[in-house]
Amino acid sequence: MLAPCCALAALGLLALGVLALVFRGVFPCWWADALCLKNIVLVLLRLSWRARLRPPFLAVDRFEEQAARQPAKTFLVFERETVSYSAAHRRSNRIAHALLAHSSLRAGHTAALFLRNEPDFICAWLALAKLGCTVALLNDNIRSGSLLHCFRCSSAKVLITSAELQGVVQEILEPLREDGVCVFVMAPECVSPHMQSLTDKMENASDSPIPRSLRANVTLSDPGVYIYTSGTTGLPKAAVISQMRLLASLAVLPSIGVTGDDVIYACLPLYHTAGFLISFISCFDTGSTIILKRKFSVSQFWKDCRKHNVTVIQYIGEVMRYLCNTPKAEDDKEHKVRMAIGNGLRADVWKEFLSRFGKIDVREFYASTEGNMGFINYTGKIGAIGRANFLLRKLFPFALIKYDTQRDEPVRDASGRCIRVRTGETGLLVVKITKLAPFRGYAGNPEQTEKKRLRDVFEKGDVYFNSGDLMRMDQDDFIYFQDRIGDTFRWKGENVATTEVSDIITQVDFIKEGNVYGVQVPGHEGRIGMAAVAVKEAEFDCTKMFNHVRKHLPSYAQPRFLRLQSAVELTGTFKQVKMKLVKEGFDPAGISEPLFFLSESEQNYVPLTKTIYDSIVTGSIRL
Ligand SMILES: *[C@@H]1O[C@H](CO)[C@@H](O)[C@H](O)[C@H]1NC(C)=O
Ligand SMILES: *[C@@H]1O[C@H](CO)[C@@H](O)[C@H](O)[C@H]1NC(C)=O
Ligand SMILES: *[C@@H]1O[C@H](CO)[C@@H](O)[C@H](O)[C@H]1NC(C)=O
Ligand SMILES: *[C@@H]1O[C@H](CO)[C@@H](O)[C@H](O)[C@H]1NC(C)=O
Repeated sequence: MLAPCCALAALGLLALGVLALVFRGVFPCWWADALCLKNIVLVLLRLSWRARLRPPFLAVDRFEEQAARQPAKTFLVFERETVSYSAAHRRSNRIAHALLAHSSLRAGHTAALFLRNEPDFICAWLALAKLGCTVALLNDNIRSGSLLHCFRCSSAKVLITSAELQGVVQEILEPLREDGVCVFVMAPECVSPHMQSLTDKMENASDSPIPRSLRANVTLSDPGVYIYTSGTTGLPKAAVISQMRLLASLAVLPSIGVTGDDVIYACLPLYHTAGFLISFISCFDTGSTIILKRKFSVSQFWKDCRKHNVTVIQYIGEVMRYLCNTPKAEDDKEHKVRMAIGNGLRADVWKEFLSRFGKIDVREFYASTEGNMGFINYTGKIGAIGRANFLLRKLFPFALIKYDTQRDEPVRDASGRCIRVRTGETGLLVVKITKLAPFRGYAGNPEQTEKKRLRDVFEKGDVYFNSGDLMRMDQDDFIYFQDRIGDTFRWKGENVATTEVSDIITQVDFIKEGNVYGVQVPGHEGRIGMAAVAVKEAEFDCTKMFNHVRKHLPSYAQPRFLRLQSAVELTGTFKQVKMKLVKEGFDPAGISEPLFFLSESEQNYVPLTKTIYDSIVTGSIRL
């Protein structure tokens, strides 16, 4: 009796195997999809289990679990300082006790951190989270009016800063005092009598655990942190990251195979989503070690990785490009980095990175700070940010819709509904706002919040989140990031993607960096291409540049103006500063840096003189 049974079972297995093979043939990503589905299901199960616990289980509770489980394990390495899980736990308890004793801060209140990447940032966040507070993460590059604006939209009553940055806070101290804000400095001495030293107060504070009952009334739909996003226009907006999203972020690293044995290199700013949620929060779940850097340094990168046995790095596209732009070295492949997680990696840099630095598992993902869904490349397709599998579509109904970059709005049909793009065409990603994919908007800014909501998309009354990102999906459902809406301009009826053009011009050997944007020319529709370029030691060679641009770019995408800079200006997250350049345009009278013009008659780039400028403006030189 037994034998036939076994045979049957074996046959069944064989059939399954064949089926699987067939499936893999027909749907090459079946296996990866299945793995991804398994991961999504596990993640969702654990999340819903945690979300049901009472008192609520918050992200910081996971940190406390790790501190109890592995107190002596190194949590953080920063410059010469090494902080164990238990040391970070105790230090944050002291901060929390000091705040309880010397401020009116309680669960449900908001405090703002104005700190650089440093252990104090991490311990202060832990302290505030233990108290059940919402934390506004201020960008440490902003100053005066902008700083005050960001602080105010969080409605925080407490501001915590460092010895280094207290001078910056002092500039806005008057209005802060008028608002009744309490300013604490992580230093024994303060520059103003109206600030208080937190370090002093910590000395006498207990390091005993903060009772969970203090945060018992916090719910998962409460805001956890505010993270500021710089829109294409106006002042930064405070995106609301809910406690639920923090809790869900715990799953990011474990779901891609990072474990407690991994050492994570964190060089992105902690005040931004990517650095904060992935390098920091998600680490609570794996219990890994974080190598914290004040900021990204291309010359330190691999040295650090070797010194600390780093196994996982986090990147943004620019980081990878800088790494690839360094001179080749013999020890390029000598390191223990096995995985890179991040976003914005362009396909050409991706290939170059792998060939130079060895077999590193790249996990490219897509997610925005305020967005309500994300993708991750789990199949190994170079260039893709993910794949739209069945479950993803069910859980997060999304669509790519036709977008009019000229009018800066989605195209609508006669009945006012949006139109899906065809396979392979580029469209705007919109994601239905649902209970599972909520959009929390921006703190204190209902107007900007409403702007990101797209209504009546496919039927009357539906609401979608407007990601502002253009994507393309191929016939195998792989999704490719194309551009930010703000990163395209239209010239002669064609859309020009600035990143694409800069990829081309930076191929010229003497160009170090390129920042491409569109400028308006009187008497012309749209914008014409201009590039600010930083040149390596070698001379700028007009002819070579011209020939390259002619060869590789369609005429509408060729930068007609060049602006030579010693270095391309960057924001805190290494994004290129464009708005200022766009405003300054191409008038040689207002710009001291060398300008060049692509001259059709000369068939070359020529210095942009006042005469040429005038002829362009009056229309005697035709563009
Ligand atoms: C800490 O406690 C000691 C002894 O009670 C006291 O003298 C000192 O002033 C306290 N320091 C602070 C900053 O409160
Ligand atoms: C939680 O809410 C209850 C009911 O409103 C209140 O009595 C209690 O004091 C709150 N606990 C804390 C820690 O705020
Ligand atoms: C890195 O690994 C090597 C060999 O495995 C070991 O000797 C060294 O102590 C490690 N360094 C650190 C900082 O853990
Ligand atoms: C993403 O694509 C890269 C490039 O092929 C691959 O090496 C990597 O393994 C992929 N990531 C995942 C999670 O499969």
